[in-house]
Amino acid sequence: PSLEEKIIPSIIRQPRKGVIIGAGQVGMACAYSLLIQNILDEIVIVDINQHKLAGEVMDLNHGLPFLEPTLIRAGTLADGENADIVIITAGAKQKPGETRLDLVNRNVEIFQSLIPEVVKYCSTAILLIITNPVDIMTYVCLKISGLPSSSVIGSGTVLDTARFRYLLSEKLQLDPRSLHAYIIGEHGDSEVPVWSKVNISGMHILDETREEDEQIEPELDKIFAQVKNAAYEIIQRKGATSYAIGLAVAQITQSILRNQNRVLTVSSLINNIHGIQDVCLSLPAVVNRQGVTRVLNLSLNQTELQQLQLSSQILRQIIEQLDL
Ligand code: 2OP
Repeated sequence: PSLEEKIIPSIIRQPRKGVIIGAGQVGMACAYSLLIQNILDEIVIVDINQHKLAGEVMDLNHGLPFLEPTLIRAGTLADGENADIVIITAGAKQKPGETRLDLVNRNVEIFQSLIPEVVKYCSTAILLIITNPVDIMTYVCLKISGLPSSSVIGSGTVLDTARFRYLLSEKLQLDPRSLHAYIIGEHGDSEVPVWSKVNISGMHILDETREEDEQIEPELDKIFAQVKNAAYEIIQRKGATSYAIGLAVAQITQSILRNQNRVLTVSSLINNIHGIQDVCLSLPAVVNRQGVTRVLNLSLNQTELQQLQLSSQILRQIIEQLDL
């Protein structure tokens, strides 16, 4: 090939296109995070409330003079042709006091009509599920869509992992990016903190803190309680959570579109890991242009393993009650 043929395609790359379904607080926080981080060239937002959607799109477009060129428009699924990613946030959300699992019947019904349409129009896209209960909805989407399991991803405990790292980093006076910690299992009440693997540059958290503070262990338990109850605390105060999940979605999307192979605690189909079968839940997994290509077999201590298996049983029981 001539020099031109070699260079031009890498400069004029295919536009990166994403569809966001649901223009509620979560969908719009995703749109805003993706927009300001220049992760997509085209964002199509779909919602049944066309009137509100038009207002949201106007508002985002008015920010374009401050940003990289991006095509943002209100549309339908039929506008999703050639989309690289479809981000699904549509569905009922928790009212104060409701658990994520309380939403299951309402949201499964929505997915039964929505997912076949998504597959019809956005046949080449990776599907990223945000709707709660996210692990169940990811499984439901996988079954209804018939897509390969690598292409159907749930946001899972990416957000809980971020909450965990933030709270630990505050306690330890560190940049959260220098602290490695994972929340695995259900994105919900049965989620599991992997205390045995929390580390700062390879050093276990208790080795780092023991000399300074003998009282650290009860405080660490309090930190996990805060992680687990974060959504309840926020929903009670502001009705929904939005900014942090928007940023989590931007990071997952970036790892997919830029083929980054980032390790993220997304929810995906798990088979034959830690004795778990046929359920979607979060474990650290490699995320790239193909979606989830590898789930890491994180070694767990006995307590963590039991908690993870319990979490998977809770999800499995719900799946078995569904009419899929
Ligand atoms: C959250 O954890 C409600 O699942 C949502 O913020």
